[in-house]
Amino acid sequence: MRRERIPLLFSLCALLAAGMGTYLQGEGGAEIEILDPELVTVTDTTFILTWRTNLPTDARVRYGTSPRCWEEVVRSAEEATRYHMVEVGGLSPGVTYFYEIESGGVTGRPTPLSPGVVQTLVPPPGPLRFRFATMNDMHVGEETAGLILLPPDIELCPGFSWPDPQTPYWRFMNEAAVAEINEAGVDFVVVKGDITAEARREEFVWAKEILDALTVPYYVLRGNHDRQGERLDDPFLEVFGLDRSFYTFDEQDYRMIALDSVEPRSGIGEISEAQFEWLAEVLDESRQKRVMIFLHHPVALQVVTPGMAVRQPDAARLLALLAPYDNIVGIFSGHTHRNQIRFAPASTGRAPLAETAATKEYPGGYTLYSVFEGGYMQSFYEVRCPECREWSETTRQECYGTLARNKLGTLHERNYV
Ligand SMILES: [Fe+2]
Repeated sequence: MRRERIPLLFSLCALLAAGMGTYLQGEGGAEIEILDPELVTVTDTTFILTWRTNLPTDARVRYGTSPRCWEEVVRSAEEATRYHMVEVGGLSPGVTYFYEIESGGVTGRPTPLSPGVVQTLVPPPGPLRFRFATMNDMHVGEETAGLILLPPDIELCPGFSWPDPQTPYWRFMNEAAVAEINEAGVDFVVVKGDITAEARREEFVWAKEILDALTVPYYVLRGNHDRQGERLDDPFLEVFGLDRSFYTFDEQDYRMIALDSVEPRSGIGEISEAQFEWLAEVLDESRQKRVMIFLHHPVALQVVTPGMAVRQPDAARLLALLAPYDNIVGIFSGHTHRNQIRFAPASTGRAPLAETAATKEYPGGYTLYSVFEGGYMQSFYEVRCPECREWSETTRQECYGTLARNKLGTLHERNYV
């Protein structure tokens, strides 16, 4: 999605003072409604807004460093659409910007998720060392999203499908993420599990075809949907050419540890005894490095909904194992399809226990990390393709919209230093 910046030829302040910019009529006289505006992404130099409208129309964002005195306008260069995304770039780090969104001549009002004000991030000190991206919960091969059934067959939440079966949503969402990550320019990518819907071999093959379009090395983790089950074969390992499902790789003086948090038959979150023994050795020999840990299920201090995290005895044991080390700088997970940050101060200090939302459905995207000498910066991006925008807005309504806020997380859980 290309965006066009339009310098203002005259001061919008004067127009606003004259009362323009609110509740004008859309084309054809129909009232344009701006729905669910969200400030999704913030970096040190950009912010990105999404919203939809009841009718196809245009999209623009006015912004500046003073409220209601706009310095510039950024307009989406798309054709008229109901699904909008506008990126404002070229900003200064650590600066507060005010903004207004507009579609069809109607100005959106500030909301809790799009407050009309944003402070850009301040990067950590020191030079940029490397960048990487994560994706998770690709669910390749899935036909329906968001369906929740209660036994025996009571539909608690209806599912959503893409109308054209020839272009399944998992394909365009994941392919868009891969293309945008390539465009962003990173050094490697970690795919944090639930790569497939049902662990079928052909699903792994399709997933590998999508991921092979990445122009940098990528590393895959197993999720509960990718579990071996009762089979003797293990297409997760075989298709991706892995000897085993837990391993390390290094980037400069960082040691990246990939764990398999999946009990093979049930898919419940657990850390096997073999991994605990291996991890103890890896941590011991990594004392001179900074360590990032990746696993599909989140690691939580408190008892949470069963199945949502690594089960408690193993989570407590993992955090106890990490406690003596002050070089753990982050634990990164997927599985919950939400953006969330928690901490385990007694174990991992200031290192976040970070969960990121699914690539395949609302909010639908990927996460970029910029690693500097003095720390790292995380920013979550929603994918941009027109079908992706529509699918994200559609799946926002999963379980009657009750899950949307939780999945999106707060601005600071998606974007932080
Ligand atoms: Fe999962």
